[in-house]
Amino acid sequence: MKGILLAGGHGTRLHPLTHAVSKQLLPVYNKPMVYYPLSVLMLAGIRDILVITAPDQTELFRALLGDGEKLGISIEYAEQPEPNGIAEAFLIGAKHIGDDRVALVLGDNIFHGPNFPTLLRRHARHIDGCVLFGYGVKDPERYGVGEVDASGKLVDIAEKPAHPRSNLAITGLYLYDNDVVDIAGGLRPSARGELEITDVNRVYLERGKAQLVDLGRGFAWLDTGTHDSLLQAGQYVQVLEQRQGVRIACLEEIAFRMGFIDADACYRLGVEFGSSDYGEYLRGIATRET
Ligand code: DAU
Repeated sequence: MKGILLAGGHGTRLHPLTHAVSKQLLPVYNKPMVYYPLSVLMLAGIRDILVITAPDQTELFRALLGDGEKLGISIEYAEQPEPNGIAEAFLIGAKHIGDDRVALVLGDNIFHGPNFPTLLRRHARHIDGCVLFGYGVKDPERYGVGEVDASGKLVDIAEKPAHPRSNLAITGLYLYDNDVVDIAGGLRPSARGELEITDVNRVYLERGKAQLVDLGRGFAWLDTGTHDSLLQAGQYVQVLEQRQGVRIACLEEIAFRMGFIDADACYRLGVEFGSSDYGEYLRGIATRET
């Protein structure tokens, strides 16, 4: 399965923070935001990843993440000239996807919760159509919204409806079979001029091939769309990391635990981070677990 991390856009809601730098490079507590969605793809077992950025930001992302070799994965880059919609990722990434299945994650989405890696891998293994992940929120009108019947089956989906028929937001993580490339190719821009991810998902729904997995109330799907929610996301990470002594979305640790790199490589990465807490944490993991 291939991965696409969509990290373009103008980030206008966060100006002036995002005047010179992409939203997805801003800090969420102690790491750049993009670490969090990248960790999701890695935890799904995906090692072949395309990062799509705004044209003037590619080199910054490359400076941060490189070609992925240090993490035992492959990272390539592509540009989205203008934010023409999330579904454009499948057109920009068509060659990368080839005849494979694909997971798309939005570069500003933060997921954290019990057994998430297991859940991800289970759904990534068998995809016939698409798998969407829903999350109950109190302001569903800000998101794609899914409506399910009494048995939990997805029956309707709408993008930012004025009158949502449920509180189930569709999160920015999507798993697709290879049909997604053709489906995206057949889309027309919406009234707001974007190739909508919700229109892709609606095609799958009409074909009876869209599954919605409810992440449940014990889970954290965090917003980073406003200054307040960005700060709160950082505080969430801070509280958990300080309480538990573990790191959320530590890419090097995930690469080690997923078997993408060995303990020696993990230790060496820890050395590269020098005297920072982050470096010390990595060296500790590599030493303890060998
Ligand atoms: O976060 C989940 C939500 O993401 C879904 O519930 C919605 O169905 C989906 O449309 C999207 O809604 P947003 O209003 O959050 O989309 P936004 O335009 O803010 O873009 C989300 C991220 O994707 C953001 O980091 C910028 C990036 N993006 C967006 C567009 C439209 C791109 O890189 N390129 C684009 O063309």
